[in-house]
Amino acid sequence: MEEKRAQWKTRFGFIMAAAGSAVGLGNIWRFPYLVGKHGGGAFVLLYLVLLALLGLPLLKTELFLGRKTGKNAVGTFKKLAPGTAWQGIGWMGIASGFLVLSYYSVISGWSLSYFVKSINGSYMGADTEILFNSYTATTIEPIAWHLIFMILTTVIIGFGVVKGIEKISKILMPAIFVIILILIFRSLTLPGGMEGLKFYLAFDFSKLGGEAFLDALGQVFFTLSLGMGTMITYGSYMKKDEDITKSSLQIILSDTVIAILAGFAIFPAVFSFGLEPSSGPGLTFVTLPAVFSAMDGIGRLFGALFFLLLGIAALTSAVSMLEVVVAYFIDEKKWSRMKATVTTGIIIALVGIPASLGFGILSKLTFFGKNIQESYDFLATNILLVLGSLLTAIFIGWKSWNKNTLKEINLGAGKLKSTRFFEFDIKFIAPILISIVFLHAIGLF
Ligand code: TRP
Repeated sequence: MEEKRAQWKTRFGFIMAAAGSAVGLGNIWRFPYLVGKHGGGAFVLLYLVLLALLGLPLLKTELFLGRKTGKNAVGTFKKLAPGTAWQGIGWMGIASGFLVLSYYSVISGWSLSYFVKSINGSYMGADTEILFNSYTATTIEPIAWHLIFMILTTVIIGFGVVKGIEKISKILMPAIFVIILILIFRSLTLPGGMEGLKFYLAFDFSKLGGEAFLDALGQVFFTLSLGMGTMITYGSYMKKDEDITKSSLQIILSDTVIAILAGFAIFPAVFSFGLEPSSGPGLTFVTLPAVFSAMDGIGRLFGALFFLLLGIAALTSAVSMLEVVVAYFIDEKKWSRMKATVTTGIIIALVGIPASLGFGILSKLTFFGKNIQESYDFLATNILLVLGSLLTAIFIGWKSWNKNTLKEINLGAGKLKSTRFFEFDIKFIAPILISIVFLHAIGLF
């Protein structure tokens, strides 16, 4: 028996779900650092230009393809170009879904664990670097948290698009916003916090070089969850006349606001306690715990709030990764949602275990100097996601473009209509910019 395909119940719910996918670890542990490193406001301007030239057309394209076909990532290309190799784009997306979620969940598990550690105060007064290294090298505990995080993700997806994803996103996304505002208030009122603001916001064009350009490009991609069919899948639950350009702008705006606000929460606090900012796991699990530790009593509360924020941001992203995979099995293999969710959830949880062990007992196992988690990450985000986006742009611009395409994209559009500029962008500018990202990612640039 084939169920009728789900549809987002409300516009707000859909925007929150898509923004939930976009807002993740990338917004909180990478974007603020890139801004500080590359000249503050000047970098933000460059980033906004690249969001408009690259992020917007690709996001619109993915939503459009999903809305048009009402199918998952593989089914979309199957339907639009039957019997061709184009569906390989969808396959790469499914593969990335498995791979990215498996290690994203391991890192998200660390956040849950640090949430509890904050409440207990167990990193207070400790050397947070030694603590982090020994924690991640432990065998059982990080795996247990990874499994707990996968169970949460799986349960939400099991409830389906409306009762699971949409419902939880409508609650959690506003919660993220409120938590960030609380953290900003604490951070900005710390003595010496202004030094942090200076690092973050100095408007310095002289720091904008090639590296800033490449960092900004890579970030645009990753932060909007592009290239693995996530937005195709979410687009497939849109109403046929839902405004694509307006929705895309709202998703991008939410994502950007959270990313920029994260810096206001982080840097004043880091500088107030005389620490050096960094990015990635080091910032999140070493520097910030040192900050919370130095805040004495109250640091436990703010630490707990911060790791809760990180866990929530990661959860709404993880949910969207699992949905890519689950939608494929439901549409193409006619599995029930329950069967698809449980089966893929278990496989992904298992694939994540070696990624966790790669920080401990399997740390000797490396590929080109990368541990298991870093290898998954490299293969998925540097290769599969970038190629996925490149091929998607070429597909719509060169393979399936016809005289009706603009009209179809504009179905349901209000004042903001897609024009010939969109066509030019997706045919020329976007593929060139993505090729640059790709060549850089594989080290040729
Ligand atoms: N956008 C997420 C973040 O900023 C990460 C991400 C990349 C993602 N690709 C994705 C999330 C695909 C969901 C689906 O952290």
